[in-house]
Amino acid sequence: EVYNPNGKYRVISTKSMPGTRWINLLIEQDCRVEICTQKKTILSVEDIIALIGAKCDGVIGQLTEDWGETLFSALSRAGGKAFSNMAVGYNNVDVNAATKYGVAVGNTPGVLTETTAELAASLSLAAARRIVEADEFMRAGLYDGYVNVDFTVLFITYGQFLKANGEQPVTWKRASSMEEVLQEADVISLHPILDKTTYHLINKESLSKMKKEAILINCSRGPVVDEVALVKHLKENPMFRVGLDVFEDEPYMKPGLADMKNAIVVPHIASASKWTREGMATLAALNVLGKIKGYPVWSDPNR
Ligand code: DGY
Repeated sequence: EVYNPNGKYRVISTKSMPGTRWINLLIEQDCRVEICTQKKTILSVEDIIALIGAKCDGVIGQLTEDWGETLFSALSRAGGKAFSNMAVGYNNVDVNAATKYGVAVGNTPGVLTETTAELAASLSLAAARRIVEADEFMRAGLYDGYVNVDFTVLFITYGQFLKANGEQPVTWKRASSMEEVLQEADVISLHPILDKTTYHLINKESLSKMKKEAILINCSRGPVVDEVALVKHLKENPMFRVGLDVFEDEPYMKPGLADMKNAIVVPHIASASKWTREGMATLAALNVLGKIKGYPVWSDPNR
C-alpha cells in the first residue's frame, strides 16, 4: 500500500497501523509512505531487508521484529537515518547497533500507560473474583440455581483495590527489598523493561516467597517470568492466580499453561485501545519524521 508516491522521503511501516493520522502527518511533510501488507504476522529479517530495498529514509517497525546489526546496516546502506518501534518496549532493538550505523531509534512511551494499568487492574480483579472460571461454569450448564459457592480467591474490596493501585502502590524500585514485596503483596503486577537484570525476575525461588493465595500479573514482557517454573507453581498451588498478557515464547504458551484453571491468559492486549494504538502509531511516525527533517527525535530510549 503506497500513499503519496511522489514524496521525497521514503518511509516504510512494516505493518498496517491503526488510524490515518500518522499517515497524514508523514504525507504533509513530503514523505512517500509504504505499508507492508504481507499476511504474515511476524516478518523475518529477510522480509524486512527486501522491504527496505535500495533507498529508504526511515522505518516504523514492530516489537515482533529482530532489529539488530543486519537490519540497521541494511537501513543505513539505503540511506536510512531513523527507526521507530511502535511500542514502548524495545527489547527487540539493538540500540548500540543502530548507533553504530548512524540510525536514530525511537519508541512510544506515555500514551499506553493508563491503558496498560487498566488491563493489569482488570486481570487482577478477574483473577481475584475467578471471572473466567465463573463464566465457564455458566457455559457448561453447571449453574442449577443459587448456591453459596465461593468464587473468590482474594477479598479485595474495589475501593481498597483502587486505593492500593491509584494512590499508594507498593512499588519495588530495586532500592527496597524485593523479598519484602514478594512476601507481603496480595497482588504483584510486573511492569519492568526486559533486559539482563529482569530476565526470569520471577522464578522458582521468587514464586516460593509469594503468598499461597497471591495474584501475579504480567503486562511487561514474557521472559520476565520463568514460565516453566510458573506452570509448576500453579499446579502445586491451586489458590495462586496469574493473569498473563505476555508469554516467554510469544505467541506460544509453555506446555501446560493453557490447562491451568488458575491462569487467565490474554493476547498481548494491554495497549489495545483504539486511542492508545493510534497514539502509538502517531508517535512512531513523529519519531521517524523528526529525524528525517532534523527535529529532535521525540522519544529516544537513549535519553
Ligand atoms: C509495548 O508498547 O511495549 C507494549 O508491549 C505493546 O503495546
